[in-house]
Amino acid sequence: MNIKKSLISGIVASVVTCSLLFSNSALAQKDWPTKSITLVVPFAAGGPTDSVARLIAVPMGQTLGQTIVVENVNGAGGTIASTKVARAAPDGYTIYLHHMGMATANALYDKLPYDPLTSFEYIGQVADVPMVLLGKKDLPPKNFKELEAYIKANGSKITMANAGPGAVSQLCGLLFQSRLGVKLTNIPYKGTGPALTDLLGGQVDLLCDQTTQTIPYIKDGSVKAYGTTTLKRLPAIPNVPTLDEQGFKGFEVKVWHGMYAPKGVPKPVLDKLNAALVKALNSPDVKKRLEDANIDIVPSKKITAAGLKDHLEAEINKWGPVIRKSNIPD
Ligand code: MLT
Repeated sequence: MNIKKSLISGIVASVVTCSLLFSNSALAQKDWPTKSITLVVPFAAGGPTDSVARLIAVPMGQTLGQTIVVENVNGAGGTIASTKVARAAPDGYTIYLHHMGMATANALYDKLPYDPLTSFEYIGQVADVPMVLLGKKDLPPKNFKELEAYIKANGSKITMANAGPGAVSQLCGLLFQSRLGVKLTNIPYKGTGPALTDLLGGQVDLLCDQTTQTIPYIKDGSVKAYGTTTLKRLPAIPNVPTLDEQGFKGFEVKVWHGMYAPKGVPKPVLDKLNAALVKALNSPDVKKRLEDANIDIVPSKKITAAGLKDHLEAEINKWGPVIRKSNIPD
């Protein structure tokens, strides 16, 4: 009898604890966020990914009523940051902005400590950024045809900066070298922010970079622009031909971005983050600043968890074979 009694009171106690826990967590989700949120960026401060992140962090924070602090976790083409976010507490206080490196890292690294498709929750796609093949100001070739001849004559004496395996600058550089059938001396940086500084200072010869920071330097002649990675010329720099029209048929690299959270963040929290992202991307100030840098905001059906997940899957399937076939130089 006593045993039966204590069994029943044990069951009652655990039911009460469970429902208390449940209501505490439901309450926590309802009140979220009650403190600042960290937005992890996988490349150096001052670079293109960092700029997009900082641009949306402010309005998203205003909508959510808390500050969003950007944390730059540099190195290994973004994979160090991805690992950190995959292992972070799934409470919504750590979120992540990464670009298409989320889809290419699988094919570039033998083993990743995370799985791009199962280690994260999806918040939504953000924006698409074109790239430009740039040379330092006093690099002798005046146009792409001359650059091809110059590279064939000088080969590995020429240096090309990138932000490590998994970075889009590296992907663009390797596709370029693979098309030319040459291997240049590739120099990894912690992001294209510091790489661009060295290109401007004349310490490296070439860099394939996003338009986010580069348009003013192209316009004022501080760097040479040999071609865009788009199939159409860019409105902000109409005099720069595409690589496609200069003989590199179909050469297209558009850098898409996605916002993620660690696996297990509750749906109500993800929904609040998504609503804040959608609102930020629709703000006239953000739209204007992205447009000035020739960055396209994605259609609203892509600023969704499903939109990002589908795109990530498609991009993993697209780039894996391309990268493996290119026999990428380091
Ligand atoms: C950066 O923010 O530094 C870039 O997105 C790096 C890259 O992928 O090339």
